Amino acid sequence: MNTQPIAVFDSGLGGLTVLRALRGRLPQEDFFYFADTRFLPYGDRPETFLKQRGVLIAEALAKRGAKALVIACNTATAAAAEAIRAAIDLPIVALEPGVKPAVGQTRCGVIGVLATTRTLASERFQRLVGNHAAHLKVIPVACPGLAEAIESEGPESAVVAGLLDAFVAPLAAAEADVVVLGCTHYPWVAEAIARRMPPGVRLLDTGEPVARQLERLLSAGHLLGGGHGRLAVATSGAPVTVNATVNRLWGENLPVEHWEP
Ligand code: DGL
Repeated sequence: MNTQPIAVFDSGLGGLTVLRALRGRLPQEDFFYFADTRFLPYGDRPETFLKQRGVLIAEALAKRGAKALVIACNTATAAAAEAIRAAIDLPIVALEPGVKPAVGQTRCGVIGVLATTRTLASERFQRLVGNHAAHLKVIPVACPGLAEAIESEGPESAVVAGLLDAFVAPLAAAEADVVVLGCTHYPWVAEAIARRMPPGVRLLDTGEPVARQLERLLSAGHLLGGGHGRLAVATSGAPVTVNATVNRLWGENLPVEHWEP
């Protein structure tokens, strides 16, 4: 039995949407969630910065005793997943926008992708679309400001509503029937996105497939079990502020500690 926690990180609290799926599937495991709030948003940062930061965080999490790592951030995956895999020797689950499942679900052949500027500009995203959806119409919409506004103003805020009006409109106009939520912050506003699309449009996030992949990796490495369902949350930002946001989004009071990788 391995009693070490599974580490999960994001630029902020978007990865909690992934964590929810991970804990739902693996309730007995212990998790350590790190929000790199000091550097939120990742989506507007240069790739070289994200690569260095991602490797630094992953190495620190490995040193802290993690038994596996989930990069619960599309932007960090796009910029740093390969460098992180080369730097640490742990089972790693990296997530990317759900273009592959979207290809199987679209009927009209038009897929919308909402993600950060950095994710959509990445070579990895170009490859993903080129390899799996070249025969379809893929409409990528970068959403600068959205992840930060979800955290600082709240998912129901007027600021978020205004941003969603602008970002979702091109997908409705193009009559996409599947919308890929290509940033882990966006499931917090899934209903608001759905309201801006015609009825019946499917929204895809990657929480469940990531949880299944983590379970497979842990099982293959004989690393399953040994925990007590504990969850610790840490931030590189101000714990008091992050704590208030965690409580609002997660709906439960989770203590937040300060941690600098
Ligand atoms: N949650 C992150 C993602 O999945 C990005 C948000 C940000 O820009 O920091 O891409």
